[in-house]
Amino acid sequence: MRVVRLVCAVFAVWLALLSLPAQAEYGDVVLNKRSEKEGVRPVVFQHWFHRIRFRCKVCHSELGFQMRAGSNDVLMADIIDGKFCGMCHNDRIAWGAAHCDLCHSGKPGLPSGIYGGDSTTGPGRW
Ligand code: HEC
Ligand code: HEC
Ligand code: HEC
Repeated sequence: MRVVRLVCAVFAVWLALLSLPAQAEYGDVVLNKRSEKEGVRPVVFQHWFHRIRFRCKVCHSELGFQMRAGSNDVLMADIIDGKFCGMCHNDRIAWGAAHCDLCHSGKPGLPSGIYGGDSTTGPGRW
C-alpha cells in the first residue's frame, strides 16, 4: 500500500510540474495593431497577472479597454499621457513607459489576439 501511495504522490508532483509552463502562458494578450508597423516588437499583456491584482472594472470601465482582444487602438502618446497601460505604468503604481522591452516583448510576427484559451462566451463577446 505504501509503495502505491508513494507512486501516486510522485505521479501527482510530476503532473503538477507538467502543467506549470502552460499556466505561465495562460491568457496572454498580444497587442500588435500598430507596434510592428511602427518598428517595435508586439506587446504582450499578461491578462492573468493583472486580473489577480485589479478588478475588471478598473481597466474595462474606468480605463476604457474594450473586452475584446485586438479591439483597442492604443497609442504610445496616450500611454505616456497616463491613459490605458499608462494609468499604472507611470513609475508610481508600476514601472514606467521608459521600459520599452518589458511591454514590447513579443516575437516579431505575432498577430493580435488572446493566447492560452482565456476567451469567454460571456458579456465580452458581441
Ligand atoms: C506599459 C507598457 C508599454 C511600455 C513600457 C511601452 N509601450 Fe509602446 N505600446 C504599448 C501598447 C499597449 C501599444 C499598442 C500596441 C499595438 O496595438 O500595436 C504600444 C504601441 C507602441 C508603438 C506604436 C503606436 C504608436 O504610438 O506609434 C510604438 C512605436 C511604441 N509603442 C514604442 C514604444 C517605445 C519606444 C517605448 C519605450 C520608450 C514603449 N513603446 C514603451 C505599451 C507599452
Ligand atoms: C490591468 C487591466 C485589466 C484588468 C484588471 C482586466 N483586464 Fe481584461 N483585458 C485587458 C486588456 C488590455 C485586454 C486586451 C485588449 C486588446 O487586445 O485590445 C483585455 C481583454 C479582455 C477580454 C477579451 C478576451 C478575448 O478573448 O477577446 C475579456 C473577456 C476580458 N479582458 C475580461 C476581463 C475580466 C472578466 C476581468 C476581471 C476578472 C478583466 N478582464 C480584468 C485589461 C484588463
Ligand atoms: C491597473 C493598473 C495597471 C494597468 C492598467 C496595466 N498594468 Fe501592467 N502591471 C501593473 C502592476 C502593478 C504590475 C506589477 C509591477 C511590478 O511588479 O513592479 C504590472 C506588471 C506588468 C508587466 C510585467 C508582468 C510580469 O510577469 O512580471 C507587464 C509586461 C505589464 N504590466 C504590461 C502592461 C501592459 C502592456 C498594459 C496595457 C495593455 C498594462 N500592463 C496595464 C499594473 C497595471
